[in-house]
Amino acid sequence: MMTKDKVALVTGSGQGLGKAIAFALAREGAKLAINDIPFNEAKARDTVDELRAKGVEAELFLADVTDEASVDAMVGKVLEYFGRIDILVNNAGINRDGLIHKGNLKNWNAVLDVNLTGPFICTKAVLLSMRQNSYGRIVNVSSLTARMGIFGTGYYATTKSGLLGLTRVTAAENTSKGITCNALAPGYIKTDMMMNYPEEQLKVLIAKIPAGRLAEPEEIAEAALFLASDTSSYITGAVLDINGGFLI
Ligand SMILES: NC(=O)c1ccc[n+]([C@@H]2O[C@H](COP(=O)([O-])OP(=O)(O)OC[C@H]3O[C@@H](n4cnc5c(N)ncnc54)[C@H](O)[C@@H]3O)[C@@H](O)[C@H]2O)c1
Repeated sequence: MMTKDKVALVTGSGQGLGKAIAFALAREGAKLAINDIPFNEAKARDTVDELRAKGVEAELFLADVTDEASVDAMVGKVLEYFGRIDILVNNAGINRDGLIHKGNLKNWNAVLDVNLTGPFICTKAVLLSMRQNSYGRIVNVSSLTARMGIFGTGYYATTKSGLLGLTRVTAAENTSKGITCNALAPGYIKTDMMMNYPEEQLKVLIAKIPAGRLAEPEEIAEAALFLASDTSSYITGAVLDINGGFLI
């Protein structure tokens, strides 16, 4: 079992990729702290119930990752409940597409807050106890949009590129303390985030993917599991591209 008895906090794990990551970590023996925003409480509760039905130790910790006080309180509660945090997956994210020359500052700030400030707040909050334990695995969910300039992704791509910087510096500052930090750069995944795209646009997009289809969340979750486990103990500050060949 790759994550036996490890305690994992996965942000935004009430649905989509975060939920798939939670299930992959749980399958390999981890105990799960499921986080989501209060707005998504019902789905997050279902995730916890589904995990418990499989015999997994899981608990719900609602918090908005953009709110430092809520995140600090959440991390305190997770530490109290499980005793430690071994794995943090910074998965919570939002998308607002828009051309830069028609830029909308409200959307820019919203995406920046969740996708970049959120991971910074959560990373900061768990690092103290990880450093005390001399152990940690941090996995940041970046994106293919951080690897190439894709039309219309200005706000989102900027945050996901910034997340690669956060990944490298977190790795540089903490690897000597037994903590690795890596990023995933997934291509297009079959979750609500993508399924909200107009069908015609989706068809055009899929035609550009050598694999000829979107990724299943589980296909990305297996990579998160690898980076969250001891199998990847000498990998740190790295970015793993998973995109069905989009970058070839
Ligand atoms: N779907 C894709 O094609 C794709 C591709 C590359 C990367 N990603 C990234 O994968 C991650 C997961 O996205 P998804 O596709 O599962 O989308 P999703 O919209 O299904 O899930 C996002 C989750 O994050 C939660 N969330 C949003 N704001 C939050 C906040 N402030 N605090 C706590 N939780 C919050 C949502 O409630 C939801 O549960 C995101 O970081 C996204 O940017 C997605």
